[in-house]
Amino acid sequence: MSKIASCHALEILDSRGNPTLKVTVRTEEGAIGSVSIPSGASTGEHEAAELRDHDPKRYGGKGVLKAAANVNSTLQQALLGLSVFDQEMIDRTMIHCDGTPNKNRLGANAILGVSLAAAKCAAAVKKEPLYRYLGGADAHFIPCPMMNILNGGVHADNGLDFQEFMIRPFGAPTFREAIRWSAEVFHTLKSILKSKGLSTNVGDEGGFAPPLSSHEEAIQLILQAIEKAGYRPHKDFMMAIDCAASEFFVDGLYIERKKKDRGIPFAKHSSNEQIDILAKLASIYPIDTIEDGLDQNDWQGWGLLTKKLGAKIQLIGDDIFVTNTHFLQRAIKEHVANSILIKPNQIGTLTETIETIRLAQKHQYKTVISHRSGETEDTTIADLAVAFGLRQIKTGSLSRSERIAKYNRLLEIEEELGKKALYTQAL
Ligand code: PGA
Ligand code: ZN
Repeated sequence: MSKIASCHALEILDSRGNPTLKVTVRTEEGAIGSVSIPSGASTGEHEAAELRDHDPKRYGGKGVLKAAANVNSTLQQALLGLSVFDQEMIDRTMIHCDGTPNKNRLGANAILGVSLAAAKCAAAVKKEPLYRYLGGADAHFIPCPMMNILNGGVHADNGLDFQEFMIRPFGAPTFREAIRWSAEVFHTLKSILKSKGLSTNVGDEGGFAPPLSSHEEAIQLILQAIEKAGYRPHKDFMMAIDCAASEFFVDGLYIERKKKDRGIPFAKHSSNEQIDILAKLASIYPIDTIEDGLDQNDWQGWGLLTKKLGAKIQLIGDDIFVTNTHFLQRAIKEHVANSILIKPNQIGTLTETIETIRLAQKHQYKTVISHRSGETEDTTIADLAVAFGLRQIKTGSLSRSERIAKYNRLLEIEEELGKKALYTQAL
């Protein structure tokens, strides 16, 4: 019943204009599931490997024709005749077929594409939305967004060291209201930037990317926007930052770029000093979430950071955990962080993503599902959030359709669930 009849991949473009895969799985009866795969810029060292062609004659070497061919031949052959409902068998077969620890032979982009497309195909056979097929009739939590309205790091060219400055509309009564509140703050921020003669161009995730002299200035501007839009910090909104610290960790030190007009080209901090900087920011400003405050290999620093701030705020591990149970197990043992970012393409199959979510939930780690900086119009992560009860989602700012598509999908789900829908207010 409902056996896989074909797997097909097409090379398409992501939001940065780089090639990525759109994968379609079909059953013998003609049911179809399609997904498009995202791609990161500040990737973790231990992420599952995305396969690119490295043919300098096409897309600067970034083509994905080899990964597409792997879907169309090797993976299709291996999966023909398997039931689309047997997600675990589908995923284990692909992992076995690839045979490497990080999926670099067939490509995590190819494998994840088939994995998620199979799930969507199964939902189509059942004539159910994906969140209900995967999460059952009880799935009803709508996640609280962390919206990256000011971009820095490798997602912008504005000289800000920290990558993401986010707002969390945790006090809104519904997701619909959370979106309205946040859009109002976003537009207020735009008018503040304009009034100061600062650029309102946006970065990769749709947040503004003005040239600022420090992360404090970025935080202050957002705080001003929250208040000017008529909302209360601490009650309506909290702020979150993703330092993406691995990007500025060099030879054991955290390098902070400073504006030349202050006479200092850069400053170097030890792990302890970086922890103090973060603690100070969290004590001065309404910040209750810090992601990747330290480098992905600075486990000792992470332990100290968790000791110092873990009882008060969310410390999210992204690059350090790469959605992998192996690293999360270590974190649980060593009391490192208290929250985890969930990015399906860091690990490469739906089954393994679910394993990581379940392990985190079992040990009271907060779970935040996330897009990548290179995205498409695909909205699968919105359905996954609802299906598995992930209470938070990171999917960019209130501009750029590849970001908005996920928010729009959650608006639809909230409406579909009606009174049953519960917008997550609690952390
Ligand atoms: P990336 O950034 O998709 O470029 O890795 C997102 C993040 O660091 O959370
Ligand atoms: Zn991150």
